[in-house]
Parts: sequence; structure tokens; C-alpha cells
Amino acid sequence: MDQPLFIRDANELITLKGHSVKPLIRPDESDLSIIRNGSLLIKEGKIVAVGKTAELESIYPGLISEAEVIDASGSLVTPGFVDPHTHLVFAGSREREFAMRLKGASYMDIMNAGGGIYATTEQTNKASFDELYDQSLTRLDRLIKQGVTTVEAKSGYGLNLETEKKQLEVAKELNRSHAIDVVSTFMGAHAVPAPYKKTPDEYVAYLIEAVIPIIAKESLAEFNDVFCEKGVFTVDQSRKILHAGKRYGLLPKIHADELEAFGGAELAAEVGAVSADHLLCASEAGTSQMAAAGVVAVLLPGTAFFLQKKMAKGRMMIDRGVPVALSTDCNPGSSPTVSTSLMMNFGCLMMKMTPSEVMAAVTINAAHAIKRGSSIGSLEVGKKADLLIFSVPTHHHLHYHFGENHIDKVIKNGHIIME
Ligand code: NIG
Ligand code: FE
Repeated sequence: MDQPLFIRDANELITLKGHSVKPLIRPDESDLSIIRNGSLLIKEGKIVAVGKTAELESIYPGLISEAEVIDASGSLVTPGFVDPHTHLVFAGSREREFAMRLKGASYMDIMNAGGGIYATTEQTNKASFDELYDQSLTRLDRLIKQGVTTVEAKSGYGLNLETEKKQLEVAKELNRSHAIDVVSTFMGAHAVPAPYKKTPDEYVAYLIEAVIPIIAKESLAEFNDVFCEKGVFTVDQSRKILHAGKRYGLLPKIHADELEAFGGAELAAEVGAVSADHLLCASEAGTSQMAAAGVVAVLLPGTAFFLQKKMAKGRMMIDRGVPVALSTDCNPGSSPTVSTSLMMNFGCLMMKMTPSEVMAAVTINAAHAIKRGSSIGSLEVGKKADLLIFSVPTHHHLHYHFGENHIDKVIKNGHIIME
């Protein structure tokens, strides 16, 4: 049996309690439900009590006397970060594309010349299971150091049944063998592979008839994502792929309006997507439709920054009633970063989100973006004991001293996994 854990006396304990059913739309500081001099009592990986230190000491003297104690005085404590959009499992790297883009080549130019997603697809197809596992594990460890305790991971660098499966099996094995939770998304519709370039509808049919049914039957993914973008998959093709996934129980997600306004936000609302991601060029009408349909916007400012594009209109989306989450989009091409804190900095400084909105965006709203709102994303009784202890006293310091990793300890399922 696990020894209980008592984390005591945090200067600022951000609980975000009370939003396990629905994401927050315009959170202000009161929605963070901050406890000053707050403590947490943890048993068997779950939170047993949260409150003022003095309160917990008087209610649970027995349990506390048995517990391992972590003194969090002077520190900020928050829920573990949830990273709801990554391309974690891939082989190789594409650092040379960076210099090409600086010289003026666009992301799509590079992809259409056989680089970009195609270059990673080639390397991922060649890699053995073990090579792919080892390279992805290294990245996962880097994510943990940045405070991520649950991560979503997409396939999409196979573009054929065999390698898509290999990627998802690697993600499953990482989830099984590693403390961090890895949530899988099938993304066979990440690019049209070369043999189908002239007949993309045949690739769509292949995904629908020969791949999605097997991914679902073998329980290799929970979500189905598509890169709906000019020159990749049309709105109509994306709709077909997302509907096919739904028939097999895979919940829809969508890479929407990343490089051009293309109707992705509208499609997300129409199919009832769990999230629509990127949205740099999303229309105001599409945004309002997302709000009405309850689609979470997963914004990926690292991608806009790295591709030197205008950031998504986070402020406008929130003001129109869309719940916003933030994510790294960790991938080898458009956002090779693992830093959630940097995304938070971008959220405030580049998308005009408030520190409270940004905090919700990387915790409870990010949990909702992967349908995990009831088990993670906030610190309340019964939820997983996934939390972060920082070397700064309040969440405002995370923005003030930007671009730094302020994490002192990462606790996952009630165990310290990084300090
Ligand atoms: O989220 N937009 C498509 N997919 C990824 C990039 C993948 C890559 O460049 O390897 C994205 O930006
Ligand atoms: Fe992505």
C-alpha cells in the first residue's frame, strides 16, 4: 500500500475546482479557486483532501502522521499541465527546414517539394518500433520536465496502415510503461501520400475502409484528427473522414484554418468535434458556430511563432464564448518545442489572454479538449494527484519571468516523478 503524501502550506494553491463537467469560457481569478497557505492530502494516487493547512491538520491528524510530507511553503502549486495536441511519436528531425524558411520558403512549399510532413513520414516508416519508442521517450521525458503530466499524441507520419499502427502502438507502450498518461489520436489524414497525389479521394477511401476500422477494433486511438487545409484535405474529404471515425467510436478533432481560412472551424461545429485546433485564420462566423456547438479551441501559439504567422485570435474567441485550451503542438516541423510555460507567455503577450485564462487553458480546459475533465486538470477530491510545485510564489511570476522553467517538482499519481 502506498504511503499517503501530504503537500503542505503552498503559498498559492490553484485548485480550479468545480469545472469537471464543462470547460471554462471566461475564467477570472476567482475561478482559479486559489487557496492561500493551502495543503493537499493524497492517498493511493488520488486527492483525498484539499484545503487550508490548519483545517486539514485538524481533520486528518492520523493520515497526516503516516504521510510523507513535502513542504511547499513559499511555492505556487498547480494542477499538472495537460498538453492536448502533440505529434509526439516520430523519427528524425528537420532542423534544416528552419534555415530554408528563414530564406523565404513557406511551410507548404517545403512540404510540396517532398520535405515537411513527407520527410518525417519517410523516416518514421523506416524506423523500427524500438527506434521510434526510444526517440519518443526522450521527448516525453523533456515534456515531463516542463510539467506535463498528460499528453495527447497523434499518429500521421505513416500514411499507411502498418506505420500508423506502429506509431499508435508506440504511444500505447509509452502510456503503459511510463508514469505520464499518453492519450492517442489517429491522424492518418495528416497528408496525402505520394502514390495518391493525383487521386486523393482514393486515399480517403482507403482510410475509411481499410484503416479506421482496424484502428478502432484494436483500440489504438480515442480520437480521429484530420489536417483540413487548402492543398491537403478539403472540407468535404475531412467531413467524410471524421464521420467514418465517429461510426467506429473515434471522436473527431480537426487541424482547422491553420494557414488559410478554409471552413475548418465551421466543419468542427457541424460534426461536433471535441476540439478544433490551430485556428490562426478562423472566421468570426466559424468561431461563433464553435461557441454554439461547445467545441474547445486548442490554440498552438508555438506554431504561429515558429512559422512567423499571425497568432490565433484568442481574445476574440474567448469573447465570443469559445472555451480555449493551449498546447505546444510538439512536432518536428512547425513547433519543435516542449514548453507549456512558453505557450502561456505567448497566450498573454501575443493573444491578449489573461493569466487566469491561460492557467485554465493548460489545465482544466486542456483536459476537456481530450475528454479528461472528470479525472484531471484540477485539484479536487477524487481526482488524480497530478500536480506541480514551482520555485515561484504566485502564478503571476510565471509570466513576469518569461521563457524560464520554474518547476521544482512534478507529481504524477501521487508520486514525485521529477525534482
Ligand atoms: O500541427 N499542420 C499539420 N501538422 C502539424 C505539423 C506537422 C509537421 O510539420 O511535421 C501541425 O502544425
Ligand atoms: Fe498539429
